[in-house]
Amino acid sequence: MKALVYHGPGQRAWEAVPDPVLVDPTDAIVRIDTTTICGTDLHILKGDVPEVEPGTILGHEAVGTVVEIGAGVTTVEPGDRVLVSCITSCGRCQFCKQAQYGLCTGGGGWIFGHTIDGLQAELARVPFADTSVYKVPDGLSDEDVIFLADILPTAFEVGVLNGGVQPGDTVAIVGAGPIGLAAVMTAKLFTPGRIIAIDLADARLEKALEFGADVTINNGNEDPLARVMELTQGLGADVVIEAVGMPETFELCTSIVRPGGRVANVGVHGHSATLHLETLWRRDVTITTGLVDTATTPQLLKLIESRRLDPAPFATHRFALDDTETAYDVFAAAAETHALKVVLSAEPVPALPERTAVRESVPAGVA
Ligand SMILES: NC(=O)c1ccc[n+]([C@@H]2O[C@H](COP(=O)([O-])OP(=O)(O)OC[C@H]3O[C@@H](n4cnc5c(N)ncnc54)[C@H](O)[C@@H]3O)[C@@H](O)[C@H]2O)c1
Ligand SMILES: [Zn+2]
Ligand SMILES: [Zn+2]
Repeated sequence: MKALVYHGPGQRAWEAVPDPVLVDPTDAIVRIDTTTICGTDLHILKGDVPEVEPGTILGHEAVGTVVEIGAGVTTVEPGDRVLVSCITSCGRCQFCKQAQYGLCTGGGGWIFGHTIDGLQAELARVPFADTSVYKVPDGLSDEDVIFLADILPTAFEVGVLNGGVQPGDTVAIVGAGPIGLAAVMTAKLFTPGRIIAIDLADARLEKALEFGADVTINNGNEDPLARVMELTQGLGADVVIEAVGMPETFELCTSIVRPGGRVANVGVHGHSATLHLETLWRRDVTITTGLVDTATTPQLLKLIESRRLDPAPFATHRFALDDTETAYDVFAAAAETHALKVVLSAEPVPALPERTAVRESVPAGVA
């Protein structure tokens, strides 16, 4: 098969590699029908995530078709269309039992395109298939569900739910990339009073308005603290979501939150930020951090099914899976290409042959 292989900082190639095989009885092999690229993949390529070994296939977001299952897999079978999410759950450890799959200590958590081969490939081995994949409901396309693999649950759980957004709240979101925009979209589920989007790029701020933000601030040419204070009678925002991952943006978040308010950090930080306790200590501010658990995936899936959430606007560019390298170039040059998420699709293949029934039929009249 072919896959996007990381060969060390700055080096990647769409190349031939061996097909994956079942290793553990709880594994499934999934044919990748649709995948996408995450900002984190770009971080890996910059060398910011040193634990990723050269030779690893990248990618942690996909929709695919099960082609083979291990002897221990009981809830999915060949032919099933499944969402393969960025987080894998062993289903057995202390954290998985509490739906904190991101913290899994049983071999799951963020493993795809990180500690094991990922999903930007024609085929992938999916560990703990029973507890980690989600069947795609009939009537939903791959593109309807692909953004549930990462950005939607991340923004919803680590931003909106950790931030405790309430009806009427003023919510400030710093960073209007895919994650910040997904935070705008999912914050609206709670009917906030006002959403303020803050970013350095005017094109991203225009997108934020399209996604439902009410006010935008370009902190490159406006003073974000003064603007937020002006909009909130000098108090600050009820909830501030950090969706960039830089020391200055985290520090901006703690300066624009109101006394008693909440700062939800979503950004992945490569450098330490300053926590200004000398001003924060008496302001009753709550700060949360987190890696996504993806525990809200079934809930978000229902909202997409009922069309209460429409992820379509995230898909700005489409490529054939074979063209993954061009897709990386377009995604990495987002400032010029205005890319949000690129959708990579495999050539459509004929449906898998009907599987012979393995379960014994129950005679009529026997319960
Ligand atoms: N916690 C988690 O589980 C989790 C999961 C996925 C991604 N993330 C992280 O979330 C963050 C956002 O992801 P993304 O894909 O949207 O990233 P992105 O790089 O596409 O978007 C970041 C946005 O921030 C803006 N920005 C950059 N510097 C800024 C500044 N000084 N002030 C204001 N805006 C600024 C950029 O213009 C851009 O629009 C990243 O750090 C990513 O690694 C976290
Ligand atoms: Zn990601
Ligand atoms: Zn676990």
